[in-house]
Amino acid sequence: MDVLDHGAEFGELAGFAERIKAETDAAHRQTEQSRFVGDLLAGKLTAEGYAALLTQTYLVYESLERAAGNHAADPVAAPFIAPELIRLPALAADLEFLLGPQWLDQVTATPATAAYVARLEEVAFTSPAAFVAHHYLRYMGDLSGGQIIRRMLERAYGYEVDGLRFYIFDQIAKPKVFKDEYRAKLDQAPFSADEQARFIDEVNLAYGLNGDLFADLEADIDRYLVK
Ligand code: HEM
Repeated sequence: MDVLDHGAEFGELAGFAERIKAETDAAHRQTEQSRFVGDLLAGKLTAEGYAALLTQTYLVYESLERAAGNHAADPVAAPFIAPELIRLPALAADLEFLLGPQWLDQVTATPATAAYVARLEEVAFTSPAAFVAHHYLRYMGDLSGGQIIRRMLERAYGYEVDGLRFYIFDQIAKPKVFKDEYRAKLDQAPFSADEQARFIDEVNLAYGLNGDLFADLEADIDRYLVK
C-alpha cells in the first residue's frame, strides 16, 4: 500500500483511475468550455434552453442505463453498476416539471445526440470495458462538476429540487466517498494494458460526443437566449 501511495504521489505507479483523469484532462477542459453550458450557468438561457439540454441528456441515459442491463452479471462491469446512480426517473421528473405532462413528445435527438446514442449502441451494449468507460464519464462527471452545475443552476434560475433532480443523488450521502470507491474499482479492474489504452480512447471519444451534443444546442442559441 505504501508503494502505491508513493507512486501516486510521484505519478510513477499511479493507478488506472489517476491515469484516466490525466489522459482525458485536455478533453475535459475542452468540453467544459462549451458556450451553451457557459450561458446556461450564467443564467442567460430560458427554461426552454435548459429543458433542451435535459431532453438530449435523457436520450443518452436511456441508452446507457439500458446497456447496464446487459452487464449485470459481468465480472468487470457489474461492480460499477449501482442503483443509486440511476438518472432516468430523475430526468423524466425534471422534464415533466419543465415541459408538462406531454414532455416526451418534445424529446427528439439532435444529430450529435443520435451519434452519441449510436456509439453507445455500438460498443457499450457488447463490451463491458467500453460500457464502463461511458459509465465513468457520465456518472463521475455528474458527481463532480455536476454538483457545481447544480448549485449554479439553483442560483441562476431559482430551482431547488424540481428541475434539478438529475443533479441530486439522494441515495448518495457523500459523493466524495462514492467517487473514491469508484476510483478504487477502476484501479482494481482486471484490464490488460491494451484494454486500458482502449478505455482511455473511449473516454476521450465520449468527451467529444458530449461536446458535439452541446454544439448542436449552441447552434440554436438565439432561440434559447433570454431576450
Ligand atoms: C461547466 C462544466 C463543468 C465543470 C465546472 C466541471 C468541473 C469538474 C470538476 C471540478 C471536477 C473535479 C472533481 C474531482 O476532482 O473530484 C470534474 C471532474 C469530472 N468531470 Fe467535469 N466539469 C464540467 C463539465 C463536464 C462534462 C460536460 C463532463 C462529461 C460529459 C464532465 C466529466 C467529468 C468527469 C468524468 C470527471 C471525473 C474525473 C476523475 O476524477 O476521474 N465534466 N469536473
